[in-house]
Order: sequence, then C-alpha cells, then structure tokens
Amino acid sequence: MTILRTERLALRPLLPDDAEDYATMRFHPEVAKWLPPAPGKQEEGDLVATARATIDRFAASWQERRLAPWGIFLDAKLIGHGGLNYVPEFDAVEVLWALHPEAWGQGYATEVAEAALNYGFGALDLGSIFAITFESNLSSQAVMKRIGLTYRKRVDYKGFTDIVWFDIDRAAYAERTSAAAR
Ligand SMILES: CC(C)(COP(=O)(O)OP(=O)(O)OC[C@H]1O[C@@H](n2cnc3c(N)ncnc32)[C@H](O)[C@@H]1OP(=O)(O)O)[C@@H](O)C(=O)NCCC(=O)NCCS
Repeated sequence: MTILRTERLALRPLLPDDAEDYATMRFHPEVAKWLPPAPGKQEEGDLVATARATIDRFAASWQERRLAPWGIFLDAKLIGHGGLNYVPEFDAVEVLWALHPEAWGQGYATEVAEAALNYGFGALDLGSIFAITFESNLSSQAVMKRIGLTYRKRVDYKGFTDIVWFDIDRAAYAERTSAAAR
C-alpha cells in the first residue's frame, strides 16, 4: 500500500475505521448522484456497511495490483477519495476523484489526480490511464482537461449510455511533464 503527500494533502489507503467518514462523503447526495451505485448498496441499506465493503475491495486491489483510490486527507480530515482504479469492464486503469462538497473549488481533485498520474506512469509503469464521467458532469471533465487527458469517445458503462471517455498515454504524459519542466 502506498502513502503519498502532495503539496496540501495526505493520500493513504482507506482503513475500516474510516468507514463512517467515508460514507458521509461518498453518499452525500451531491456526490452520490454523479457516481454509479456502490456494489451491494441497498435502497435503505446501511451506508456505513456499504462504505466498509468498498474499503475492503480497495484493500484487495492494493494487494493484487498495487493500486486503488486513496482516501484524501486535509489536516487529518477525510475530504474525499481519489486515485487509480482497475475497471474490469474495460480491462484498463482509470483515474477517479470525489470530494465532499465543502472541499470543492480549491483545486484538491486536480492535485490528487496529478499525483495519481505520476504514480501510475512512474511507479506502476502503466501504458495509459483513462477517466470516464457523465456527459453532464462538467466539473469532472474540467479536472480531466486540467491534468492533460483528451476526449476520445462516448461509451456505455453499467447500463449508462451518456458517458464520455478521456485518456492519456505514457508518451503524451512524458511530453507534458517535460514541457512543464522546461
Ligand atoms: C468532480 C469534483 C471532484 C470536482 O471538484 P472541483 O473542486 O471542481 O475540482 P478541483 O478540486 O480540481 O478544483 C478546481 C477549482 O478550484 C479552483 N481553485 C481554487 N484554489 C485553487 C488552487 N490553489 N489550485 C488549483 N485550483 C484552485 C479552480 O479555479 C477551480 O475552480 P473553477 O471550477 O471555478 O474553475 C467535484 O465536483 C465532486 O466531487 N463531484 C462529485 C463527485 C464526482 O462527480 N466525481 C467524479 C465522477 S467521474
């Protein structure tokens, strides 16, 4: 499991004890409406139990693939999740993010996404990384564009048809980071 610090944030794998705070963020109505239903979530189910199941899935992914979304912590407070996630439907790795609404508008998602690309193309040596979101989710697409992803196509995902796909490959990422360093 990998722990990182960015300029303003701490990124660490989520732990079972985070489940309550994670559920508060993940199932906030303004967050949940943009995300596919969490596996195992029931209409009136126990959201903390669902959050714990997600944390268990992330822990298994850390073991199996050395990647999963991190918990995002600002001054030790959980404000979101973000990072890399393997998607079996596409047999590919995505970069994703979600923040509690109180943490929107500060550049935190972009900061985490940049760290995730650096980890994916650096430590993990991935060939490319994608991101998907609803066509109407312009805030998320703005993050994608800020970190250098390019729109490619529309895709179907989990029964949704209004999904847009952005990606970046390692050559484009290397070009982007070397241009930024010049
Ligand atoms: C998607 C989501 C993470 C985007 O959040 P966000 O706050 O807009 O994105 P960032 O954290 O990168 O912040 C960027 C904003 O902070 C501003 N900002 C303020 N201080 C900043 C700083 N120091 N550095 C960078 N940007 C800063 C930027 O100008 C930008 O504002 P703008 O949108 O008005 O141009 C958020 O809307 C969310 O969690 N939504 C619900 C879940 C979701 O949709 N997840 C994605 C599913 S695919």
